Amino acid sequence: MAEQWTPASWRNKPILQQPTYQDAAALKRVTEQLSVSPPLVFAGEARNLKRSLGQVSHGKGFLLQGGDCAESFAEFHPDNIRDTFRVLLQMAIVLTYGAAVPIVKVGRLAGQFAKPRSADTETIDGVTLDSYRGDMVNGMDFTPESRTPDPERLMRVYNQSASTLNLLRAFAQGGYADLHKVHQWTLGFTANDETGERFNGLADQIGEALAFMAACGLTSEQTPQIRETAFYTSHEALLLEYEQPMVRTDSTTGDLYDTSAHFLWIGDRTRQLDGAHVEFMRGIGNPIGMKVGPSMEGDDLIRLLDTLNPANEAGRLTLIARMGSEKVLDHLPALVRRVKKEGRNVVWVSDPMHGNTIKSTTGYKTRPFDRILSEVKGFFDVHNAEGTHAGGVHFEMTGQDVTECTGGAQAISDTDLGDRYHTHCDPRLNAKQSLELAFLLAEMLKESRSSTTQPIAVGQV
Ligand code: PEP
Ligand code: CO
Repeated sequence: MAEQWTPASWRNKPILQQPTYQDAAALKRVTEQLSVSPPLVFAGEARNLKRSLGQVSHGKGFLLQGGDCAESFAEFHPDNIRDTFRVLLQMAIVLTYGAAVPIVKVGRLAGQFAKPRSADTETIDGVTLDSYRGDMVNGMDFTPESRTPDPERLMRVYNQSASTLNLLRAFAQGGYADLHKVHQWTLGFTANDETGERFNGLADQIGEALAFMAACGLTSEQTPQIRETAFYTSHEALLLEYEQPMVRTDSTTGDLYDTSAHFLWIGDRTRQLDGAHVEFMRGIGNPIGMKVGPSMEGDDLIRLLDTLNPANEAGRLTLIARMGSEKVLDHLPALVRRVKKEGRNVVWVSDPMHGNTIKSTTGYKTRPFDRILSEVKGFFDVHNAEGTHAGGVHFEMTGQDVTECTGGAQAISDTDLGDRYHTHCDPRLNAKQSLELAFLLAEMLKESRSSTTQPIAVGQV
């Protein structure tokens, strides 16, 4: 029998990947302030997302989750938020055509500020300081002042997330996402190449379809689905000193939700069954995710499902597989088969980023476009072979014209990486690469649709 859950019960469990704050009084002051600040999202919104993900788990939808590896204070700008949002909208349009099911859109945005690290400290020229753990914790500069964990950063993350969410809500519901604007989403630097032209062709088709629908009396005035879109936020629930004070009781159901984002996930390094992160996540009512890396064993996965989703509620749990292009075909089939055999409702999603990070010949951390594509392909192949639903994708991407991942139609090479390498953490797909990938994915989705369509047997209705 599991012990009683409270928003603080994680404190009785072993915890990994946390900073050590030197000023306990300051931490207390900030977390108390957070606990009386308005929620960033509402329980009803989180429930809507859970319902949509429930549809995805039954094969009636596809999840597109994407955004920065790590948001930062330095890159906080309305243009950056807008550009990431519109690339996600463009990708969603392309995928809708391929999948012919609703695309559930979730940003790695408005809260994605804390990072797990492979070592607690970093040593340069004989000087050892705390590792950079994301702007939620400390600064990237290698100085003692910058690297000392500062609780005030939690409040700054909250405020930046609130402004980001405000803008995202305005974009999603205030007219920017209206399908009539689909041509205007084409970013300057994606318009004049093959992918941009392909997108414009699709935008023309949508324009014609909208004109046809308007002639039939279906206009954006009466049809909110044409005028606005549902867009959700997510981040890794890593820093529990931030997540705990954001837990609130939903007045309509009495359930507890983490109101820092609609969707929270557990990272691959903090998913221990008896650890603090699993303890925290099991009690919140939000839809949640868990990264599933190559070290995951079938028995452990089932125990984690027992703990995180004991009622086997559809839409509650998304498994984000991040195996690496060379391991996906070896490791994923047994896990998918086991989950299916045990009758568990999950959404399976592919993160083709985190298992495919390499060091380039020029010293930059990068991810080759071909490896990313090959992992997604492997993920689809596994699901097609097992008769399960490939439920979505999880990308690290940006609307900016960065040079962080090699390859793609732009053929970014190792020597190009230094041109515009801006990430605060892992290398991201740029706007063109993201859209190119969406077109390739749409083709895979079309194929898997035709391969899973069963011929109707004689006598069947
Ligand atoms: C991430 O999503 O940025 C991340 C750190 O992933 P993982 O937990 O899969 O390594
Ligand atoms: Co990352």
